[in-house]
Amino acid sequence: MTNTLKPTEYAAIHDFLENQAGIRLGAGKEYLVVSRLGRLLPTFGLNGYGELVSKLTSLGNTRVQTAVVDAMTTNETFWFRDAAHFRVLIDGIIAESKPSRLRIWSAAASTGQEAYTTAICLQDGMKDGRVSRTLNYEIVGTDISPTALQEAQGASYCGVSASRGLTDDQRRRYFRDQGGCIEVLPEYRQRVSFRPFNLLKPFDILGKFDIVFCRNVLIYFSQERKRDIVSRIARSLNPGGHLFLGSTESMSGNEDLFEMRSISGGLVYRVRS
Ligand SMILES: C[S@@+](CC[C@H](N)C(=O)[O-])C[C@H]1O[C@@H](n2cnc3c(N)ncnc32)[C@H](O)[C@@H]1O
Repeated sequence: MTNTLKPTEYAAIHDFLENQAGIRLGAGKEYLVVSRLGRLLPTFGLNGYGELVSKLTSLGNTRVQTAVVDAMTTNETFWFRDAAHFRVLIDGIIAESKPSRLRIWSAAASTGQEAYTTAICLQDGMKDGRVSRTLNYEIVGTDISPTALQEAQGASYCGVSASRGLTDDQRRRYFRDQGGCIEVLPEYRQRVSFRPFNLLKPFDILGKFDIVFCRNVLIYFSQERKRDIVSRIARSLNPGGHLFLGSTESMSGNEDLFEMRSISGGLVYRVRS
């Protein structure tokens, strides 16, 4: 087996990822390709990266192509990430608009922590009166990575993902202990669903949303793709809808489509009508 990665093979894998998923590895990430894709070679009976590249550049190799995208995604996430965003949602947006229904999209949901954190904050708000008990909400989590989505759907977390971002008290209140691992309690799972979705594809099939979390994914994309995705999110929002971006992400040239708001100690973007 030829296990060294040639510059032409790196370039082909780089282009494949950018075309399929929008992910730009940039220069000098050969070590990442080798560490993440090296293990796929024996799985698919491939004799080196040259054969892998042939599968990526010819039609009818969906399984290998999906596995490559899956392996090359960075699924890092944690509970209550950018906690200010959840305060903005509950104490800012919901407090001022008092909606009777809310459709929320976790657009790069990874292993589900963002979607479940949102459900936990909504349910807590319902319990202490900050959110109407009759609020009819739905949270849709999507991601391109089948492995991440499988963990999200299972709602069961072990190791670092069972602790990162959580206090002991939160772990006791929102999860069932499973001998070291934790499982999200049913009340926080019941209105959360997950499905595979590539942000490069049209959003129409997902319907309209009131709130979109698109956090810590635009960083992987080119400027043109960021601009395109943010502008399509604007069209997928109901009037008055809000978008949350990651702390290092921005409107990417769509400032005319959104109004930036600083409420309840955090930043959010409201679509202009
Ligand atoms: C770093 S995680 C962010 C997770 C979460 N939003 C957060 O902020 O904690 C980025 C996620 O984006 C997903 N992703 C990358 N490219 C994508 C694409 N083209 N379509 C949908 N999801 C994508 C990855 O699979 C990964 O799970």
